[in-house]
Amino acid sequence: MSEKSLFDQILDNTLGALRKKREAKTGNKNVPKIDAEKIKKNANEISKDLLDKSSVALDKSKELLENKVAPKLDKAKQKIASRIEEKKNQQAQKKEKAKNEAAKRAEYNQGEAEYQKGLVGLRDLLAPSDMKVNFGDMKLSGVTTKSLLVTSYPRYLSSNWMSPIINFDSTMNISHFIYPFDSERVLNILKKKVTQMQATMRINREKGLVRDPALETALQDAEELRTRIQRGQEKFFHFGFYMTVLDPDEKKAERNLKQLEATLGGQLMTSRRTNLRAEQAYHSTMPICEDELDSSVNMNTSPLSSSFPFTSATLTSEDGILYGLNRHNDSLVIYDRFSLENANSVVFAKSGAGKSYAVKLEILRSLMLGADVIVIDPENEYEDLSTTVGGTYLNVSLNSDKRINPFDLPQKLKDVDLKPGDLLRSNIITIHGLLKLMLGGITATEESLLDKALIDVYAIKGITMDLVDPSGLEPPTLPDLQNVLEGMKGTEDLVKKIEKYTKGTFSGIFNMPTNIDIKNGLMVFSVRDLEDQLRPIAMYIILNYIWNRVRSSLKKRLLVVDEAWTLMQHEDSAKFLFGLVKRARKYYLGITTITQDVEDFLKSKYGKPIITNSSMQLLLKQAPTAAEVLKTTFNLTDGEKYLLLNSGVGQGLFFAGNQHVAIQIIASYTENEIVTTNPEELIKKEI
Ligand SMILES: Nc1ncnc2c1ncn2[C@@H]1O[C@H](COP(=O)(O)OP(=O)(O)OP(=O)(O)O)[C@@H](O)[C@H]1O
Ligand SMILES: [Mg+2]
Repeated sequence: MSEKSLFDQILDNTLGALRKKREAKTGNKNVPKIDAEKIKKNANEISKDLLDKSSVALDKSKELLENKVAPKLDKAKQKIASRIEEKKNQQAQKKEKAKNEAAKRAEYNQGEAEYQKGLVGLRDLLAPSDMKVNFGDMKLSGVTTKSLLVTSYPRYLSSNWMSPIINFDSTMNISHFIYPFDSERVLNILKKKVTQMQATMRINREKGLVRDPALETALQDAEELRTRIQRGQEKFFHFGFYMTVLDPDEKKAERNLKQLEATLGGQLMTSRRTNLRAEQAYHSTMPICEDELDSSVNMNTSPLSSSFPFTSATLTSEDGILYGLNRHNDSLVIYDRFSLENANSVVFAKSGAGKSYAVKLEILRSLMLGADVIVIDPENEYEDLSTTVGGTYLNVSLNSDKRINPFDLPQKLKDVDLKPGDLLRSNIITIHGLLKLMLGGITATEESLLDKALIDVYAIKGITMDLVDPSGLEPPTLPDLQNVLEGMKGTEDLVKKIEKYTKGTFSGIFNMPTNIDIKNGLMVFSVRDLEDQLRPIAMYIILNYIWNRVRSSLKKRLLVVDEAWTLMQHEDSAKFLFGLVKRARKYYLGITTITQDVEDFLKSKYGKPIITNSSMQLLLKQAPTAAEVLKTTFNLTDGEKYLLLNSGVGQGLFFAGNQHVAIQIIASYTENEIVTTNPEELIKKEI
């Protein structure tokens, strides 16, 4: 018998199991046997049928796949491939482009660097051509540099101890390095030192030794310092102080250095030469803030503050305003003219040398300190300044509606005792001067007639010699005076001359009541638009008006008279200006007289007295002829005269009392914008 296949075996087993299940269920033991062969046959037939059907379906799907899907797939594949290719190309192109650009940039940079190398820069201009470092000094293009550093200071430093060094007559660089030091650490160190000193003192006492004053002083100092640091009144610093002397002549450099050592020694300071470190010392004294010497001394705030370098023995004061730089030593010229015996000043220089510029700076800076300033401006130069600081600008001319009556009387000062008629008398004297100026020469008879007429014209208004304070009464005007004169005998000529100002060409300006008032801050009277002939008269009247007002209330004031030579041309106006200059001090007024025509100014017999009554004097660039006159007037040395002749714009000599320095007037950018009269800069400003 052939062996049964596995399938047959499984089938037999399954059928057998089924039959048994049926027998158990029905209880019938004769459940007919299922014909396995038949089942197999059926199954074969079914599976064959299924196989046929599936092969047909397979064929169909194969066909579908081949005809429809495959071409689409191919297309998609091709698309993806082409896209990948495209991307690859793009990336390659980008890389190429970046590479090209980098190469180009590198080429440009190299070119630029080479171009820059060829440019003349500040370094080329500044750099010395050679440099040789020796044991104790250094040679820079033939200039010897020798340096010193200060290693110890005396117990007390006076407030101006730097000034002999700053004023030392040699080319030199000085540098200060100040490093703050943590107060906490100093306190700890001081505590330890104090303990040590106290212990030493105790031991000495126990040994029966005499007291040691040096130790006691040191202990006292340390204790005091501890207290002050603890209270925050002092801080602690390291202070490095180096100096480098430069001179083309080596011997001279050595001599200067020795003198400098002696000067320092005289102040009980110990200095040391920077042997073997000449280069570092030179670097440390250059304005580059590099402390290569690194040699400093402990110092607390008070002595350190006394090392402030901008002090010169003479012209830096605690308060006041900045006038400029001291050209001897680059320190600042700070001065308060009100601290001098009188606050008047004169400014002399040739045209365009910077007189108005210097005075305008002084005005700006004085205004900041609360002084009022009044200016008589014959050139309309102060208009910008006045607008900037919000001042009052009055244009006095025949066409303007601003009037000042010369007959106005001053108000009485509160705490000044006056005798009856004092105010009236002084004003009549002033009007005499004015009338002489207006009417030209007058005879002695005419003068006495005028005097009578003046007294009468005031009397008509109720102002008489027995009044102490006539300020409440209305003053007369020029036409009133004319009326009075017309009623007198022998005054025909006078009346005719006065008519020019009351009815004639010059009428309208001096013949009406005053309609302006003195304001605080800056006040400018411009007289540019007046005829030349009228200018001194107007200046006289304005000055008198200002003078009367100034005397009525005490306040710190400056009165600037620009182009003062116009007043000096006529004896009467010159005399009047001198009168003001002489008396200004009592009324807290400082008068600045500016003039370009020194000779004209000094020709007048009042010129010299005005100068002697002005404690402050500023002389800027001069013409050779004027320089000679100035030399004798101001007792200048030949060197000073030479300096004035060779000065640039804004440079000159500044005198304050007996002290004098060569000065350079400097302005900040903003100040320059406000005060310049340079037409080029003015046009730029307008644009
Ligand atoms: N210290 C200075 N720094 C820079 N520029 C200056 C200085 N001083 C004057 N200037 C310039 O020089 C020119 C002349 O100055 P300023 O008007 O003060 O001369 P001035 O002496 O008053 O002349 P004038 O007698 O004709 O009135 C101006 O353009 C001004 O800007
Ligand atoms: Mg000027």
